[in-house]
Amino acid sequence: MTTPHINAKDNAFAKTVLMPGDPLRAKFIAENFLENAKLVTDVRNMLGFTGLYKGKKISVMGSGMGIPSIGIYSYELINFYGVENIIRVGSCGAINENLNLYDIVLAQGACTNSNFADQYDLKGTYSAISSFDLLKKAYDQCINKNLPVHVGNVLSADIFYNADSQNWKKWQAMNVLAIEMESYGLYCNANKNGAKALSILTVSDSLVSGKETTSEEREKSFTNMMEIALNIG
Ligand code: HPA
Repeated sequence: MTTPHINAKDNAFAKTVLMPGDPLRAKFIAENFLENAKLVTDVRNMLGFTGLYKGKKISVMGSGMGIPSIGIYSYELINFYGVENIIRVGSCGAINENLNLYDIVLAQGACTNSNFADQYDLKGTYSAISSFDLLKKAYDQCINKNLPVHVGNVLSADIFYNADSQNWKKWQAMNVLAIEMESYGLYCNANKNGAKALSILTVSDSLVSGKETTSEEREKSFTNMMEIALNIG
């Protein structure tokens, strides 16, 4: 069976899928971390691969940017391909002053300014949270590897270039650690459809200090994040 956005065969995906935003990142992970990786889907060049990590079947696929994009792919993976765990591996902009560049943020929960959860007609606000099981495993890995890790809330923003450039300060005041653009949609889909999800993020820039990472350094910290994701997958 194929879906409107995924042309993989039945059972082509592992129970766990790692999702970076960039499909070429997915290709890089498949080529450098997995054994015997095979391309399983390529609709719109949103590449997905399945291979082995330490003898265990695992998949990796691009999510694209933003809640609508990850919303589509995570929904189809969970509901049509039997995927049980989705681990987003991405970057975030720090809005908490205690976060340094390259630190790891485990998104325990996600806030949003999107109306994604409006579809559920809840007459209230929905707190989109990660899987505690995946969160605990990821946290333990970070502690064992002595990596700088922060656990808390993130903002999954709909808008990267916000007309109100200081808007993040209001989220900062609510103890939100960082901004990214996907976790809220991923967590909603996982919770609604009986799957587990976690976003593991590396701080790529800080809205507090104005500092940004270099692409070379990003590569190194990315490896730490990938290994955590692969080991809990
Ligand atoms: N905003 C949204 N997404 C991001 C950012 C940001 O500042 N940095 C990395 N991803």
